[in-house]
Amino acid sequence: MKRLFIKTYGCQMNVYDSARMAELLAPIGYAPAETADEADMVILNTCHIREKAAEKVYSELGKLKQIKTAKAQEGTRMILAVAGCVAQAEGQEIISRQPAVDIVVGPQSYQRLPEMIAKISRGTGHELETDFPAEDKFDSLPAHKSAEGPTAFLTVQEGCDKFCTFCVVPYTRGAEFSRPVEQILAEAKGLCDSDVRELTLLGQNVNAFNGKGLDGEPWSLAKLLYALADVPGLDRLRYVTSHPRDMGEDLITAHKDLEMLMPYLHLPVQAGSDRILQAMNRGHTAADYLRLIDRIRAARPDMAMSGDFIVGFPGESDKDFEDTLALVKTVGYAQAYSFKYSPRPGTPAAALTTQVPEEVKDERLQRLQALLTAQQTDFNVAMVGRTVKVLFENPGRKEGQAIGRSPYLQPVFAEGAVGHIGKIVEVRIEEAMTNSLRGVLVHQAQSEKALAD
Ligand code: SAH
Ligand code: SF4
Ligand code: F3S
Repeated sequence: MKRLFIKTYGCQMNVYDSARMAELLAPIGYAPAETADEADMVILNTCHIREKAAEKVYSELGKLKQIKTAKAQEGTRMILAVAGCVAQAEGQEIISRQPAVDIVVGPQSYQRLPEMIAKISRGTGHELETDFPAEDKFDSLPAHKSAEGPTAFLTVQEGCDKFCTFCVVPYTRGAEFSRPVEQILAEAKGLCDSDVRELTLLGQNVNAFNGKGLDGEPWSLAKLLYALADVPGLDRLRYVTSHPRDMGEDLITAHKDLEMLMPYLHLPVQAGSDRILQAMNRGHTAADYLRLIDRIRAARPDMAMSGDFIVGFPGESDKDFEDTLALVKTVGYAQAYSFKYSPRPGTPAAALTTQVPEEVKDERLQRLQALLTAQQTDFNVAMVGRTVKVLFENPGRKEGQAIGRSPYLQPVFAEGAVGHIGKIVEVRIEEAMTNSLRGVLVHQAQSEKALAD
């Protein structure tokens, strides 16, 4: 038996792909390893979105090279593979920078891994695969069947045709592609048979989903959600990440109709200034975005909003940045991610001569994050005293404690809940922190009260 260690960086689509690779390699004799030291093969599933993310890969490869050399001295061979978006973006360059790497494989070619491993095992060369093959990787990869707990990711869409001027994703993941509905439903049913209660549908532009429906016509994400709502055993649905331009009327209506569609929406806007939004090629204005949020909240008044922001895009003035702060104040986010603009090789914005100095980016990021953190704390504090349904997922740090998620995706922990892992239980929220909530099980509070009476 051989051992496989996969280290995953970046977005949830990489998390999903890593699980697929593990399932693909199990039949050829690779069992999971806990660390790189005990592994015969290591895969780094990488992210290229910002410079820091990409550079991390090379420092990790340096460490792995030492392990590989030590193993070679003991007479064992370790195969080192780089997968994911750095593999796609940098290809051969990775092997030039770190010759200890045996395999470089882009996100659309994982089905080729067994063949690449076989070739490496026979010889000493390198294997490189960064084409966008005509065959669909989902047809060739094993379905996601063994979830680790009551929640699972399910990739339904991949790639991006939007070409925001700062972003590498259209180059690393290729054109927008949606999986057929039949394949998605089969995978969802399999997951729910193995006790999954909550599914998060994944896509770089998940709401641009237009996969082949059961009737042969393209189906929207809304139509897919209604079909998934009937899968036996499934209680909760989420989807991520959405683009404002693809937020169709039927999807908004689905939030009104489907109780099991959770009231949390990640809808990145990136900036609040129309000048910057245009330079980013986002295809919408700040007012368009705000109108959209009004419509969403009309359909689902308790919708918790989340987003992504970039500060210091080339040419961003103080006034532009103030517009971002103003937009954030108008929306009121439950949670959000914010980043300093990072110039990415080959993207149009990287070539602009109006780059913003690092210290200005730092200062803006601090101000934006202070505002977003305050909003997140307010959102959490407003939960105190309320009863929410929590799907418990994992044991907590303390004996008997368990951690789960509220409908609004907040982590909630409760004492004495460990027996409820995998179930949805009512919890009364007693305390709010910035990143989590503490609550008590409602039935437990009731029986304690009965005892006291
Ligand atoms: N498809 C999603 C986001 C994918 S990338 C969408 O369109 O919203 C995740 C986030 O990383 C982006 O929303 C953006 O905020 C950030 N990001 C992407 N490229 C970046 C760059 N060059 N510098 C800084 N942040 C970036
Ligand atoms: Fe990147 Fe824009 Fe596509 Fe999102 S929509 S993945 S930010 S290019
Ligand atoms: Fe990173 Fe690629 Fe995801 S660049 S964010 S791993 S799509």
